[in-house]
Amino acid sequence: MSIEGPADLLAAAVAAREHAYAPYSGYRVGAAVRGASGRVYAGVNVENASYPVGVCAEASALSAMVLGGDVSLVEIAVTAEGAALVTPCGACRQRIFEFGGRDARVWAADTQAYRRSFTAEELLPFGFGPHAMQPRDPR
Ligand code: THU
Repeated sequence: MSIEGPADLLAAAVAAREHAYAPYSGYRVGAAVRGASGRVYAGVNVENASYPVGVCAEASALSAMVLGGDVSLVEIAVTAEGAALVTPCGACRQRIFEFGGRDARVWAADTQAYRRSFTAEELLPFGFGPHAMQPRDPR
């Protein structure tokens, strides 16, 4: 089953995934995020022989976004192969919440099409974020 979603974001995530570095798990992941500026930033998972040092595709994409000057995200797509749906890990849900807030749209795809979408709040109910830090953090 597939659903409609932003084609440019899926294309960017799928193209990025070709560069995934996943020699240990063999599970290649691509991600693409749309910043508030409208620009799209891609990322891949980058594993390491010291396994916990590996970085998720979503985290890579968010790093690229911050480097590119965006600190707010509208939506993010993640793509991987396989029968099971790829959804962001717990740590990446927190990262998405940081920059996108409750309403950020998260698109889960295989390498052909979107299969499901979620809000950040659905993935991280009662999430802790910048809003909880006010007035210390003006965001
Ligand atoms: N991975 C991601 O990059 N994003 C996800 O949403 C799920 C998991 C990566 C981490 C690791 O390199 C590999 O997939 C297997 O967990």
